[in-house]
Parts: sequence; structure tokens; C-alpha cells
Amino acid sequence: MSYYPARAVVDHAAIRANVERLRAVAGAAEVMAVVKADAYGHGIVPVSRTALAAGATWLGVAQLGEALELRAAGVHAPLLTWIYGPGAPFAEALAADLDLSASAPWALDELAAAARLTGRAARVHLKSDTGMARGGARPAQWAELVDHAARLAAEGTVDVVGVWSHLARGDEPAEPTTSAQLAAFRDAVATAERAGLRPTVRHLAASSGTLFHPDTRLDLVRPGLALYGLSPAPDVADAVALGLRAAMRLEAEVIHVKDVPAGTPVGYGHTYTTPSAGRLALVPLGYGDGIPRHAGNAGPVRVGRHRGRVTGRVSMDQVVVDLGPDGADVSVGDLAVLLGDARDGDPTAQDWADAAGTISYEIVTRLGSRIPRTHVSQEDPS
Ligand SMILES: Cc1ncc(COP(=O)(O)O)c(C=O)c1O
Repeated sequence: MSYYPARAVVDHAAIRANVERLRAVAGAAEVMAVVKADAYGHGIVPVSRTALAAGATWLGVAQLGEALELRAAGVHAPLLTWIYGPGAPFAEALAADLDLSASAPWALDELAAAARLTGRAARVHLKSDTGMARGGARPAQWAELVDHAARLAAEGTVDVVGVWSHLARGDEPAEPTTSAQLAAFRDAVATAERAGLRPTVRHLAASSGTLFHPDTRLDLVRPGLALYGLSPAPDVADAVALGLRAAMRLEAEVIHVKDVPAGTPVGYGHTYTTPSAGRLALVPLGYGDGIPRHAGNAGPVRVGRHRGRVTGRVSMDQVVVDLGPDGADVSVGDLAVLLGDARDGDPTAQDWADAAGTISYEIVTRLGSRIPRTHVSQEDPS
């Protein structure tokens, strides 16, 4: 039974337009569409197909399982994956023609062992920690990692196709960390080349690097958030200013309305009391759907022509929106929009992030899997 009184409508025309925009910005660099976390909540398989059709030439995911899901769905583009621990199913990964990141010699050893087993060299992107202290080998361990990779490359079990890193402060264009990371990255590449490696794909920039730091674009860029029409640095430039279109509209039917007098307390804990007589609309999305509870009395909702907000606390499955005396034209069955594109007058994931004290990444990736995704404007819905 697939009935649900709410849905996330994913607009593939917007994803295409965003990929095209990013390709134009990236210039000669190739675009890797980052589709981890179910394409930031938008649907990994359909979004990957659309991104590739629009000119992305690579896909990137965090988890091996996400990469294998794409292969099982028949998506065959170059595909990088980077989160795994010892004992991961590397043979399966190589058989699926995945590229894997490696930050330490143990990872190279396990990949080489899988290569011996499968008879296929492991395609590896060596990860350098250029200043984020997350994944990657620190500069002091880099030469050892590179030498290890060169030995395995010589025996034919490892093929170093890439060197990569990640920016810590790419969303702060005036901040000098990015230049320092770029310089460290260039050193790392030079060390790899001195060891005889010839990585052809050098990559550093996610959405913010792509958009704000032209010198970090290198051979390939790895945008995630911007593909979905959201700004990685809303204080610098919002999505509209960046020429991006929100790819998701989260909407629900109003399932109940009631007219209440002024002074009516609303919801758990009575954290809101109606300031005037008016209409309340009940919207069937709650924190069980990923609507942040922190956005109680704040999260923006458009109901018809009314721009309201969640009034009272967010419940597990529903929220109440006080439309006030002006809301008399709203009835059961009308659409409430929680997320959409600012150009349509809809609240955005960034508005919700501001309301909840978080970032738009968290708003879209946390939307529950129980909300049905409806895909529109797909060129190839297969
Ligand atoms: C290594 C790496 N590259 C690229 C991305 C995409 O980042 P963004 O969504 O900011 O474009 C991420 C996402 O967190 C990431 O972890």
C-alpha cells in the first residue's frame, strides 16, 4: 500500500540544469556527481542517471553499499567510493569496477589482496590530508603511502588513477586555509609523481571549491549539495544568486482544519498560543519524517497563498500551522509546501536549516525514507 498524504517531488529538469551550471563553472574539469546518502535524500539511482545524462562523467558515494546499489541498477559510469574499514568486501568492489580511496598502507594491502583474488588491479585514489584532519594520509605519512602504492603498482595489483583531498573551509572564500590546502595538495601530487606514479585524476573541490575557488578545480570537481540546487555557503551567495534550482519540493495535503479563538494553546507542551482567532491547518509531516523538532515554532510552511510557520512543537507525524484570521480560504486537501524553490515563493531547505539551527545538507539528507519520492521530468525514467 503506497498511500501517503505527503511526497517529495524530485524535479530532474532542475538537476539537469544544476549539472549544466556546474559544468559551465568547472570549465575543463570533469564533474563527479556526489550521490551519497541516497543522493542527499533525492534518490540515488534516478538522480545518478540524470546527472550522467546531463554531462557528469563520474559518480561519487561514501559507502561501498551505495556504489554496489548503483552497479546493481545498471549504472556503469566511473564510480569512486571512500568509506570502509578493514575486511570490507573489496573483491566484490573490484569485480563491480569501483574506484576506491586509500588513506593508509593497510587499505592498499587489502585492495592488492582482492586484486590477486579477482585478477583485476584495484583502481585507487590516494587520499592526502591537506589540512582537514579527517580522511587521508598526513604529510608525514604521505611518502610512505605513495611508496607502498608504487610497489603494488609495480607488481600490477594497484593502479593509482587519482590523488585527492577535501577542503575544510571551502565555504569561506576569504579564508586562507584553502590556498594552504591547495599548496599542500600540489606537494602531495609532486611526491607521488617522484615515486613514479602518474595519477590522471587530481581532485580537491566539492560544491564550495567548485563555485568559489577556481584554482581548486584541477582535473575533476565533486559537487554534491549544489547538484540539488542548494548553496554550500548561503552567507556568501544563496542558491538563486548561484544560478541553482532546488530539485526537491516537499509537500503534504492539509488533512484537517479547525477554527479556534484567540488564546488557544497548541500542541505538546503548549509552547504556542494563538494570538488571534483564526484557522489552524494540520500538516501530516513530523520528526518521524525527518522534519527537525528543533524547528518548532519556526519552520516555514506555505499553505496555498499563505506563508506560515510551524506553530507549537513538531510532533512525530504532524505539525500545526496557524494561518490566523486570514486563513479562512484554506481547506482540507489543500497543499502545504515545506521545501521548494525560493523563486516559486516556497520555503527552502536553507530556510528550514536557519529555523532549526543547522545546515541545508542535514535537512535534505535526514528526510525519512517513508516519504514517497515522486520523480518528474526524467528524460530516461528506466
Ligand atoms: C569527500 C567529499 N567530496 C565531496 C563531497 C560533496 O560535498 P558538497 O555537498 O559540499 O558538494 C562530500 C560531501 O560531504 C565529501 O565528503
